[in-house]
Amino acid sequence: MDKFLIRGGRPLSGTVKISGAKNSALPCLAATLLTPETVTLRNIPYVKDLITQRRLLEDLGATVLTPELRTHVVNAKNVDTFEAPYELVRTMRASVLALGPLLARFGKAKVSLPGGCAIGTRPIDLHLRAFEALGANVSLESGDVVATAPKGRLVGAEIAFEKVTVTGTENVMMAASLAEGTTVIRNAAREPEIEDLADLLNKMGAKISGAGSETMTIEGVEALSGAEHDIIADRIETGTFIVAAAITGGELEIVDCRPDHLTAVIAKLREVGVIIEETSPTSLHVQLGLAPLVARDVTTEPHPDFPTDMQAQYMALMTQAEGVSHVTETIFENRFMHASELVRMGADIHITGNTATVRGKTKLNGAPVIASDLRASASLVLAGLCAEGETLIQRVYHIDRGYETIVRKLRSVGADIERIKDEQAFNADV
Ligand code: EPZ
Repeated sequence: MDKFLIRGGRPLSGTVKISGAKNSALPCLAATLLTPETVTLRNIPYVKDLITQRRLLEDLGATVLTPELRTHVVNAKNVDTFEAPYELVRTMRASVLALGPLLARFGKAKVSLPGGCAIGTRPIDLHLRAFEALGANVSLESGDVVATAPKGRLVGAEIAFEKVTVTGTENVMMAASLAEGTTVIRNAAREPEIEDLADLLNKMGAKISGAGSETMTIEGVEALSGAEHDIIADRIETGTFIVAAAITGGELEIVDCRPDHLTAVIAKLREVGVIIEETSPTSLHVQLGLAPLVARDVTTEPHPDFPTDMQAQYMALMTQAEGVSHVTETIFENRFMHASELVRMGADIHITGNTATVRGKTKLNGAPVIASDLRASASLVLAGLCAEGETLIQRVYHIDRGYETIVRKLRSVGADIERIKDEQAFNADV
């Protein structure tokens, strides 16, 4: 397994280009299953999860052409199997996004029940109950979710999610697009990725209104057509690079991003003393102020509030802020695994329940650490960039799932980071 070797203490400086959003590209690729016509998706990030999603589509019988590395031309006319096998789903939970489209277009789907992952049990009960509300028969058979539409077509319904679920909302949007009648989703997720999926589906002929608000209406149609669509920029990658500039005391111009998609993150980072200037609708200029960073509490919540996917990166930054901060995680039950690794580097962090108390400012020293999940890996990279000395991060396949060519991007703005390759691994740095 590949490792990263980082020699910290170098302020970053220069321009970083943000890639397409992994968490938008995944549902948008799944949505191509809804039509026999060709769908072209551009700005797909070159990350491991999208390689996996592409393989899933091809295993189902779709054809995927990549005239350019980040453009996928998909045609699902000849889809002839309706199963997402365990070996695929266990490597990427987002494979469950195939359930809605397969059920909607073919009236049947069999998807391995995803296991939990490092950050939590990650059930999909809300997805399944929603499909039943749309008229599907759903059963569990030897670890697989088996769903069928008894009359061959789903029926619109009112669906009120008891908890905000991003992929649950996305699965229902796709399933309801071809259902008979109207579906109303209450307590819908409001993330920018939800709006991006709705944009694509509407380009394909769906009739979705209210995306981005807590109530969405979907009028089912008989069939969907092909479309072309550009995936939005990755707001979590953007937030990660803002923290990278701040934690190294550097200065970055971040381009091809969408500042309007991470207003809560920008507000919180400004509160702690990071100078963030929105230089255009698609660019930011970030630097540290003259005053030291100040500790501020944060609680993760569904969009538009502070995202759970930025919690680990924020915690790393709080180790460099003067004072005590409380980082409270309300979305996942086990998303503090980066804390113990940060402590090994010199951070002062104590966890009580779902709140981590960070006492700063503490000097970070390079150390060998182990990544546990995608965003925890990012926080360890950030800490390594700040720390004095060498940090060796193991299991960086976690980070390759969601950050495109991160070593190259960091090196281009002055970081001393290198990938120590394990010959058999996925070649992430094209
Ligand atoms: C999406 O995961 C993202 N993944 C996650 O990003 C992100 O952290 C999460 O939303 C929250 O924003 C993708 O979009 C591919 P949820 P998802 O359903 O949809 C519980 C990353 O780092 N829940 O919104 O799986 C669940 O356990 C990844 O890029 C149920 O109880 O998250 C969690 O506590 C990590 N039953 C909460 O709801 C269900 O049926 C929110 O989960 C579904 C969810």
